[in-house]
Amino acid sequence: MSRATAPSKENCIDGYKYVFNKDLLKDKVAFVTGGGTGIGFTIAEVLMRHGCDTVIASRRLDKLQESAATLEAATGRKCIPVQMDVRDPKKVQQAVGEAMRRFGKINFLINSAAGNFLCPAEGLSFNAFKTVMDIDAMGTFNATKVVFDEYMKNHGGVIINVTATLQVRGQVYQCHAGCAKAAIETMTKHLAVEWGEKGIRLMCVAPGPIADTEGFSRLGGKAIRDDYIKTIPVQRLGKREDIANTVLYCISDAAQLLTGTTVIADGGAWLTSENNLGRIRRIVEMYSKL
Ligand code: HXC
Ligand code: NAP
Repeated sequence: MSRATAPSKENCIDGYKYVFNKDLLKDKVAFVTGGGTGIGFTIAEVLMRHGCDTVIASRRLDKLQESAATLEAATGRKCIPVQMDVRDPKKVQQAVGEAMRRFGKINFLINSAAGNFLCPAEGLSFNAFKTVMDIDAMGTFNATKVVFDEYMKNHGGVIINVTATLQVRGQVYQCHAGCAKAAIETMTKHLAVEWGEKGIRLMCVAPGPIADTEGFSRLGGKAIRDDYIKTIPVQRLGKREDIANTVLYCISDAAQLLTGTTVIADGGAWLTSENNLGRIRRIVEMYSKL
């Protein structure tokens, strides 16, 4: 069984296999929210392995600094850690301002920052629902608007929003996060329509269950067993690298016709996974015993 919990220190990919040319993103710049950990970290890594410099931004500066050093050592590209809460437009403006001072451009924005926990709708406080909407949906809008204003409206670019598959079927105990991800996918369509003429493409990349991540552990990953994995059409959990490679494709020139839509990268899991109270209660019960 794959390890399902997030590591305490971020690790780079062991033996990364190149599918695209190593110079695909040479001297481009990406701003990655939530880039200090998890899927955002590996997205930053894969972009850097293709010649891109990055800014990684989130709340914990110590974590960002540690991750930036790891990324620079593994890839030889520049990575600037910047403290920012996506919910605070002023902080987002300062962080994007810092990225512009350091690099003078932002070709790609990757919105990977999010907050989530498993909770029945009846147990959500008003503030719990609002908090997830604020981090995910408002946070994505805030970063997008600031990067648009500061760079992309005059130069174009690509924006990737990391969503999920929760909202596709209405997943159990995920009302807050599903609503937030659905809002992001709708925002992506609207902005793709309005900003296409400015040379801006926007896409969502929707991971399914990804091993070794905080998100997966929070949703009961430790209690996942091989019988669940056998229900996934590709017979395995996703890896962070799968998502990073999907993002790489979406920002590349190979994807020039992709805008305003979502690529689901989950090995078909959303098609087959059981989505009912009985299953989730079993997982929560098992998880609480681990
Ligand atoms: C119910 C909860 C809760 C929980 C917090 N709250 N945790 N309610 N169940 N487990 C409530 C609190 O009681 C509070 O409401 C409100 O939410 C805000 O909580 P704070 O702790 O004050 O918020 P904050 O410090 O801003 O932290 C946000 C957070 C936190 C989301 C709660 O966990 C966080 O920072 N997470 C970031 C990392 C993360 O979540 N990564 C996973 C992303 S993965 P009251 O009413 O008491 O004030 C992901 C996976 C998708 O999205 C799909 C996977 C398959
Ligand atoms: P993660 O490591 O916890 O990533 C979330 C990141 O968001 C963290 O780096 C966190 O850093 C940052 N963040 C949270 N709140 C923030 C805020 N208010 N302002 C700025 N940054 C904030 O979790 P992950 O599992 O890799 O998730 C990454 C993305 O993938 C998320 O969008 C998630 O919804 C999506 N996803 C994950 C899975 C999965 O199986 N893991 C499945 C579907 C979708 P700080 O704490 O330093 O702020």
